[in-house]
Amino acid sequence: MITDFLIVGSGIGGLSLALKLSTLGKVLIVTKKQKAESNTNYAQGGIASVLAEDDNFDLHIEDTMSCGGGLCKREAVEKIVREGPTRIYELVDLGVKFSEKNGKFLLGREGGHSKSRIVHAKDLTGKEIERALLHEVEHNKNIRVLEYHYAIDLLTNRNLKKNDNEKYRHTLKNRSDNACYGLYAYDIKKKKVEKIIARNTIMATGGLGQVYLHTTNPAIATGDGFAMGYRAGCVMENMEFVQFHPTSLYEKDIDDDTQVFLISEAVRGAGAVLKTKDGKEFMQKYDKRKSLAPRDIVARAIDSEMKKRGDKCVYLDPSPIGEENIKKNFPHIYKTCLSKGIDITKEMIPVVPAAHYACGGIKTDIDGRTSLKNLFACGEVTMTGVHGANRLASNSLLEAVVFSDGIFEYIKKNIGKIIPSNGKGKDFQKMDSLVLDWNDKGTINADEWVLIAHDKREIKEIMNDYVGIVRNTVRLQRALRRIKMLREEIKEYYIRTKVTVELLELRNMVTVAYMIIKSATKRKESRGLHYMLDYPERDDKHFKKETRLIKF
Ligand code: SIN
Repeated sequence: MITDFLIVGSGIGGLSLALKLSTLGKVLIVTKKQKAESNTNYAQGGIASVLAEDDNFDLHIEDTMSCGGGLCKREAVEKIVREGPTRIYELVDLGVKFSEKNGKFLLGREGGHSKSRIVHAKDLTGKEIERALLHEVEHNKNIRVLEYHYAIDLLTNRNLKKNDNEKYRHTLKNRSDNACYGLYAYDIKKKKVEKIIARNTIMATGGLGQVYLHTTNPAIATGDGFAMGYRAGCVMENMEFVQFHPTSLYEKDIDDDTQVFLISEAVRGAGAVLKTKDGKEFMQKYDKRKSLAPRDIVARAIDSEMKKRGDKCVYLDPSPIGEENIKKNFPHIYKTCLSKGIDITKEMIPVVPAAHYACGGIKTDIDGRTSLKNLFACGEVTMTGVHGANRLASNSLLEAVVFSDGIFEYIKKNIGKIIPSNGKGKDFQKMDSLVLDWNDKGTINADEWVLIAHDKREIKEIMNDYVGIVRNTVRLQRALRRIKMLREEIKEYYIRTKVTVELLELRNMVTVAYMIIKSATKRKESRGLHYMLDYPERDDKHFKKETRLIKF
């Protein structure tokens, strides 16, 4: 298969970029489940943007930078903040219906924001965005969506046929010359691997929450894009900064590895207050912004209260919002909690922190370019410099939609110049014959399901117990030793086994866990989401910089 533009992932970044790139050529979107199944689909909160009269760009920039613990890149932050309103109106033009009052956006408030600036669609913002974008995509003749296709690995110089063409062979030696030519994708229904060649490939694969036991992320969030990027030789940065959302619904009998239900930060923004079981507020002990402090502070405070008191959860008291407003503004949360036996108009909601968002990832520049030629990335899989050590609430959909637009603008300007392997336009068509076909000769069918299930469980437990909200060197080293061993075993199993979704996910999960732990061991200080008991202070002298991993 050959296409002009290949997008992996069907969330807000991938879909909005597909619509724009379709004006330049053929677009193929590859997604491992149905097209609507993305992290975006589950976003409740919304998109932060300066739209209120009492707000301004400087305030949003300042809030983002101060939340990011000294690691945000100003240029990237300015880009998302200043372009925000334009991208929001673009989404409205595409049919997204945000909540309004008297003809103006109804703006919500979330932790770390000094003003109300969250554009939302009740408490199902992501779903509304997906609905509108997918509707456009489905009616666009230049876009094809390949559902149930699992992206396995990017095609790079390492996948070129070695003896076919000297011109390409020399690039194998030089990392700075590495390029991406598409990817191998596993057709889940036909159980066969296809080679897809593309002029440009864009990773918009979303998150990695499933490497933890408790996560707000859907089952698809196994960190595939992070692992593929790392294996292909992309520069990876800041993988240690995993954000835990302070308030996921605590349920006694939930399976450890299913997605937990999020209680949006917008509920606290509307007035709900965190309390312990006995009804006492506690956030005043940790931060003057109390329940609306940035997420790293709130999640650590909850963790500390639970540990001190020996409780399994804390509580969110939504009574200050009032029954009418709860039902009107948070219908999804109200109904879901009610279906689980909790009437949030009358009682407190039991909550615990859960893995929610990766602030690190594939390093990109301001145009969304990765360190591989022809490979771009946007959304959660990236490290653009926007989030630093801790993401400000509702800046993620904003980052995805702004950077995907940047990628489009870059490709449009450079369309004649970024053809694979430094060649000219016609070489792009030739790449199909120069790239190796998938070869699984000598492999056998996976017959040891129990091995995969066990390893997956072990990865999640290691991450949960040793690489969570509070860390220390001993725990991290223990985690690293175990993950390295698992990684070796899984690699060996992968080499001799025909691919399945379960195996591909396991391979990616162990790689992602390795990257998080490895990066965490490098940062011997506490900053943002990375809190080390044995290095409790921030150390700007040695660590005011990105942690970096490169495979090769
Ligand atoms: C939420 O609704 O609390 C999630 C929003 C976000 O993660 O930015």
